[in-house]
Amino acid sequence: MSGSKINVAKQAIKYIEKKLHPEMILGIGTGSTVNFFIEELKDFKHKFAGAVSSSEASSKLLNENGIEVFNLNDVIDISFYIDGADEVSPQNFLIKGGGGAHTREKIVASASNEFICIVDSSKMVNSLGTFPLPVEVIPESRSLVARKIISIGGTPNYRTGFITDQGNHILDVHDMDISNPIKLEAMINNIPGVVDNGIFGLNKPETVLVSE
Ligand code: A5P
Repeated sequence: MSGSKINVAKQAIKYIEKKLHPEMILGIGTGSTVNFFIEELKDFKHKFAGAVSSSEASSKLLNENGIEVFNLNDVIDISFYIDGADEVSPQNFLIKGGGGAHTREKIVASASNEFICIVDSSKMVNSLGTFPLPVEVIPESRSLVARKIISIGGTPNYRTGFITDQGNHILDVHDMDISNPIKLEAMINNIPGVVDNGIFGLNKPETVLVSE
């Protein structure tokens, strides 16, 4: 499994390598596949300006590898956003947030010119939803949001003991019908108290790289 993740991390380097330039800012996702990508990227750190990160964990790893981390507020143009996923549909819609970082991941993805999703083939599915859908909620609204999600057919599980980088809670939602990802993404995000959910519908990747 880690061999496949290293392999797709190398594929992503190959994909962006010739396009790097000294002013370029990259967007960096979160998770074990991205960790391998950061390890590969460190050899090219003199060929681009730095990165906007989607999580504290990725910021730490980028810093440890000598790659400068910029605040999104200080950056106008992000050329590529590179991130993994928990599920990828045939239309390139995603479920993300297994690591609880999907809110910032979606923000950085939406700020980027091209989202390159890097996965091993186990993440490719015919339809989304076997992986429980992560929903980040304001702590005080957790039970209210859980009841609303039950009313639209989901089975929410509180991710006990987990706090997001923004200080919020996660509900992992089973049994959802995600046949219309864009509609469900908006519907869940319209529940007061929801910060963001892990469906990447409007912000799906332009490019998906897959390794065996
Ligand atoms: C982080 O919250 C997630 O969105 C990750 O991008 C996703 O879980 C993929 O992680 P792995 O690369 O560790 O499988």
